Amino acid sequence: MNTIKRIGVLTSGGDCAGLNAAISAVVEAASKKGWEVYGIHDGTEGITEKPHRYEVLTVSNFSDSPWPRLSGSYLGSLNKGMRIESLEEVSKRFTIGVKELGLDAIVVIGGDGSMNIVSNMCKGSMVKIIGIPKTIDNDTPITEFSIGFQTAVQYCTSSIDSLELTARSHKRAMIVEIMGRDAGHLALHSALAGNADICLIPEIPYTIDGIINKLKEVKKRGRNHAIIAVSEGLKTESGSPVTSNKNMVGETIYGGIGQYLCGEISKRYNDFQFRVTTLGHLQRSGVPVAFDRLLASLFGAKAIELLAEGQDNKMVIWRNGEVSYVDLPEVVKTGTTLVDVNGKYVKAAKDLGMYIGEI
Ligand code: F6P
Repeated sequence: MNTIKRIGVLTSGGDCAGLNAAISAVVEAASKKGWEVYGIHDGTEGITEKPHRYEVLTVSNFSDSPWPRLSGSYLGSLNKGMRIESLEEVSKRFTIGVKELGLDAIVVIGGDGSMNIVSNMCKGSMVKIIGIPKTIDNDTPITEFSIGFQTAVQYCTSSIDSLELTARSHKRAMIVEIMGRDAGHLALHSALAGNADICLIPEIPYTIDGIINKLKEVKKRGRNHAIIAVSEGLKTESGSPVTSNKNMVGETIYGGIGQYLCGEISKRYNDFQFRVTTLGHLQRSGVPVAFDRLLASLFGAKAIELLAEGQDNKMVIWRNGEVSYVDLPEVVKTGTTLVDVNGKYVKAAKDLGMYIGEI
C-alpha cells in the first residue's frame, strides 16, 4: 500500500535549463495524488543543515508562475562544494533532517554523482528516492538524454553560427571551447549541428599536424575562415592536462585548452589568424528548448508514478523514444558515459570530412 503523504524535491549539481520545468512537473503530479511537496533549498544542505531550508510548493505558487519556463534552479543547488566533515556525518544529519521534515520520499534532480550520494544518505532512513537525470554534459549513464543537454547544444550551435559570421568577415579561424568535463557529447553534437571543420573531444587523440592539415584543406578549397570546436576536458597533444586548478572536492576545474591550441597551432601555421572564445557558464542558461521541457514533464510525471507504485531507488530515463526507469545502483555501476568512438555521431563527423582526431 502506498503510504506517501509528503515528498521533498531538490536539485543537485551544476544547474542547467529545464530544472524548474522538472520541479513544476513533480509538484503538479504529486498534488494530483494529494501529496504535500517540500521544495528543499540548496540541494541536500536544506535537509542536513539547521534550521532546515525548504518551502511548501503548491500548484498555485510554483506551476502557476513563470518559473517552469526559466533556467537556473528556483530551489538553489549544491555543486561539488559540500561543506562536509565526512559522508558518514552528513548521512546522520540527513537521516535526522528527513525525519524532522516528515518526508516519505525524495525526488533528486541531479547527475549520477549527486544521485549516488543522496541514495547512500537515504540508506540510513526509510525515505524512498527517485532520480531525474539532468546535466549539460549528457554523461549520465543509461539515459540517452538528460535534462539541459539540448538547450546547451542549442546555445553552443548558435554561438558557432555567430562566430562563423565574424570569422568570415576577418578571415579567421575561431576556436570555441565548450563545456562537458571528460565527455565530448556537448562539443560533438554542437560541432555537427554547427558545421564545424574540426572537433576535438577528450575521447579521441589528435595531433596539431592533423589540425593544420585540415585547415590547409579548408584554404585549398578557397574558404578563408574555419571553426574549431574543442571540448574543455581535452588534454594537450602529449596527453597532459592543461590546468591543475581543483574544486573543493579535488576535481579538476577545466578551462584553457582553447588558448593552448591557439598557441600551438599558430607556432606552426599562420595562414589564418586565430581567436579563442570560451563559452563558459552561459551554456548552462538560456531559454529551455522544448525537448528539455518535454523531458522535464515526462520525467517529473514518471517519478511520481513510480513512487505511487511503491518503487524506490530508481532513476527515470529516456531510451528509444520512451520514458522508462532503471535501478539507481545500475546507474552508479555503469558510471559516466563518454562518447562512443565507434558510434553514429563520430561516424557522421568523419563521413562529413570533419577532423575529429586520429581515428
Ligand atoms: O557538469 C556541468 C558543468 O557545467 C561542466 O560542464 C563544467 O566543467 C562544470 O559543470 C563547471 O562547474 P562549476 O559550476 O563548478 O564551475
